[in-house]
Amino acid sequence: TYVIAQPCVDLKDKACIDECPVDCIYEGPRMMYIHPDECVDCGACEPVCPVEAIFYEDDLPQQWNEFAPANAEVFEKVGSPGGASASGPLVSDHPVVENTSPVTA
Ligand code: F3S
Ligand code: F3S
Repeated sequence: TYVIAQPCVDLKDKACIDECPVDCIYEGPRMMYIHPDECVDCGACEPVCPVEAIFYEDDLPQQWNEFAPANAEVFEKVGSPGGASASGPLVSDHPVVENTSPVTA
């Protein structure tokens, strides 16, 4: 699967959403998350993110290791909705994201 990491936090550019053919990029309060069971590894989202927040899981920079489980665990309560636009935004972020300091421009 692909994973969204820290550069997305408090930015949420959303260019990635338009590229995903399976609508598996979900919005949380502070960042977007890729559903690991719904992502088909097409890779279309990765090059369009202006801050390079998206990585194939094996290529995730080490300092953002915890974002791989975060992208998975944030769906523990909702399961696999099968489409972000129909299911709506997630009500809360993963604790890893909640504990990330706000980004000041
Ligand atoms: Fe975030 Fe980049 Fe998508 S900032 S919303 S991962 S285009
Ligand atoms: Fe969608 Fe990106 Fe996966 S475009 S299918 S989330 S690699």
